[in-house]
Amino acid sequence: MIRTTQLHQPGSNPMTRSQQLFERARNVLPGGTTRATILFRDYPIYLTRGEGARVFDEDGRSYIDFANNFTTLIHGHGFAPVTEAAMAQLKLASCFSNPTSSEIDLAELIVERVPSVEQIRFVNTGTEAVMFAIKAARAFTGRHKIAKFEGAYHGAYDWAEVSEAAMPDENNLSPPVVANYAGMPPSVLDEVVVLPFNDLERTRSILAEHGRSLAAILVDAMPSRPGLIPLKREYVEFLNEVARANDTLIISDEVLNFRLDYHGAAERFGLRADLTTLGKIIGGGLPVGAIGGRKDVMQVFDASRGSLVTQGGTFSANPVSMVAGRASLGALDRPAFERLEALGDYARESIEALSRKLGCTLSATGLGSLVRLHPKAFAPTTYAQFFQSPAQKQTMRDLHFALLERGILISNTGLIALSTPMNETHIDALTAQLESAIVAGGFFQ
Ligand SMILES: Cc1ncc(COP(=O)(O)O)c(C=O)c1O
Repeated sequence: MIRTTQLHQPGSNPMTRSQQLFERARNVLPGGTTRATILFRDYPIYLTRGEGARVFDEDGRSYIDFANNFTTLIHGHGFAPVTEAAMAQLKLASCFSNPTSSEIDLAELIVERVPSVEQIRFVNTGTEAVMFAIKAARAFTGRHKIAKFEGAYHGAYDWAEVSEAAMPDENNLSPPVVANYAGMPPSVLDEVVVLPFNDLERTRSILAEHGRSLAAILVDAMPSRPGLIPLKREYVEFLNEVARANDTLIISDEVLNFRLDYHGAAERFGLRADLTTLGKIIGGGLPVGAIGGRKDVMQVFDASRGSLVTQGGTFSANPVSMVAGRASLGALDRPAFERLEALGDYARESIEALSRKLGCTLSATGLGSLVRLHPKAFAPTTYAQFFQSPAQKQTMRDLHFALLERGILISNTGLIALSTPMNETHIDALTAQLESAIVAGGFFQ
């Protein structure tokens, strides 16, 4: 049983392995976990192994994995080219203080594929990538403010975190500028301009006032947290124009959305990226991040010229992540992207068809291999349309658990990430279990 009403009492049914582990975990980890994003009722499900599109838990149950570690595992679990490359490297060495040829191999592959990336630096997480990209933009422009979208998640660097979970307010020109943690310095809020994505008129007015003071506009062209809603073409074109007119850099945050296109998300959306941040899939399942971009901007990191931004990191460009990333991206050729694109279209169409069949208020957004479920009759196109009431948020949490009970693992936000070992059978299983969960739970009425 995944749903329990209370923690284990002596004398009641024997605890599951996951329950036992959580009891231990709560003593030594605050809240019993290491990640705020793990959704659980009384205890989380502890996983032991994965195989292709499936994962297995401590109690021997298996699930189709549509979470894929928050979109990281584009080849699913145990993808032979990645595991073989990583194991061979581990036998040689896990890390050095000197460089290895593996970082050049991965850098060359990314530079060759992404037109706007002329040079690249590796770090360990997407958070670090965003942090260093913002620092680079500040050093290059000599300005310190940045702009970002309301609701957008870019990791845990203070300026990038502002207004991550703010209430939408369409009555004011500017969306609310809101601290993301207790004690966030008010000076951080003064240095962030929050933009309403896909609202061209308000964005135009806000940038008319602040444009010239901005080091960078931090753009995720299909921000996941606020709904996995693609930016409209004319909105992207406006951002390109306004950035150029104001000598402001565009940072394309592709930590999540790099998986949308062989050439990256900026290329797909027509965004003129000066800097690009990467993570997740470029490490093949091992920790990684990267900042890439225009050579003249990337020079801020060049120590031989007296770097304007010091960038390092004990594990940055560690060879295990580098070879795993090279193997992962190497296997992602154009046909692989085309297959994922078709499978994503099939998933979105199947979900919309199910919603029509059941006459319920379920919709789907996304592109390529990414899909997001919404407790809404129509797919949202703005943050205000996306924003969920407490009752809607609860419905999505309940759906997450109902799917888990039916052997389907999706991210807690309703985000679904497809992987290359999947085919239409997996999508049909998702849709069938979604139908069963909706009918049994009375969701989306
Ligand atoms: C768009 C985006 N930027 C940055 C990050 C932070 O990456 P990491 O979790 O590797 O620090 C994420 C993580 O989900 C992300 O989705």
